[in-house]
Amino acid sequence: MARQSQLAEALADARRRTDELFTLLVPDAFYDRPIPERHRNIFYFGHLEAFDWNLICRKTLDLPSFHPEFDKLFEFGIDPPAGRLPEDQPKDWPSVAEVNRYNTRVRQAVTRALTSGDVPEQLWRVAIEHRLMHAETFAYMLHNLPADRKIEPPGVAARILGPPVSRAMLEVPAGQATLGRKRGNGFGWDNEFDEHTVDVPAFAIDNYKVTNGDYLEFVKAGAPPALLGTPRRRVAPANHVWPCAAPTHLARLRHPAAGVQLRRLDRQIPAHRAAVPSRRLFAGPYAGFHPHSYAHSYARSYEPRL
Ligand SMILES: [Fe+2]
Repeated sequence: MARQSQLAEALADARRRTDELFTLLVPDAFYDRPIPERHRNIFYFGHLEAFDWNLICRKTLDLPSFHPEFDKLFEFGIDPPAGRLPEDQPKDWPSVAEVNRYNTRVRQAVTRALTSGDVPEQLWRVAIEHRLMHAETFAYMLHNLPADRKIEPPGVAARILGPPVSRAMLEVPAGQATLGRKRGNGFGWDNEFDEHTVDVPAFAIDNYKVTNGDYLEFVKAGAPPALLGTPRRRVAPANHVWPCAAPTHLARLRHPAAGVQLRRLDRQIPAHRAAVPSRRLFAGPYAGFHPHSYAHSYARSYEPRL
């Protein structure tokens, strides 16, 4: 029972996170496609629920479908022509209201399934992790969406507009980092196994993340802006960085430079090399040391529209 309420809480929390992300879209932006290789936003709106329904209710509990067409559409999306980018149009997708009705009904069925106790815990973990992964990738898609296609949630700008933080370097002693996960010890994705340890030498690191303002200074000094996106469509983050130049964009300047690849930042900003922690530093002596949590940080952040 305790396990069941823990799962219910984890699922509710994951749902809250993804719901929050979709409230950031202006109504017709559900049909935008911020990244050409990906589906339109509306797909992800239906996909999160369809995945849970297909996995838990349809395939595990063998419940009859109440909307087979949506089960399939939001499981796979609309395939692009072979070797080409997706060409589907907004009119090829159902309305937001229709998807919303489907989602509501699916959630009720999935929640009932959770209370029935007939579904293995492993599958619940898969559903929760799947949703959290999409929260992260959808936040990345939002980052590629122009500011006028997003709605600023109340209170966010005020939270960012606090006094400037004081920068310092933190000395972290050498230690051992434990990476990966032991087999036979709960849920994990394939690439999370096996558990192993590595030695991490002593190092120093900035106490705060590199901000858009830091990055802007670097670009103003003559460095080429980093590129975001996929090899097919490289998007200069100038879209995100350069508009920060106006003083009214203070909040943006102070926001962490989300979307800039860590490896690229490491190579391009020698002064901030120490501020770009590697994976093993996250897992080792650095864990719990940083004032910000990096886990799902994009999903918890918002780029204010100023
Ligand atoms: Fe998925």
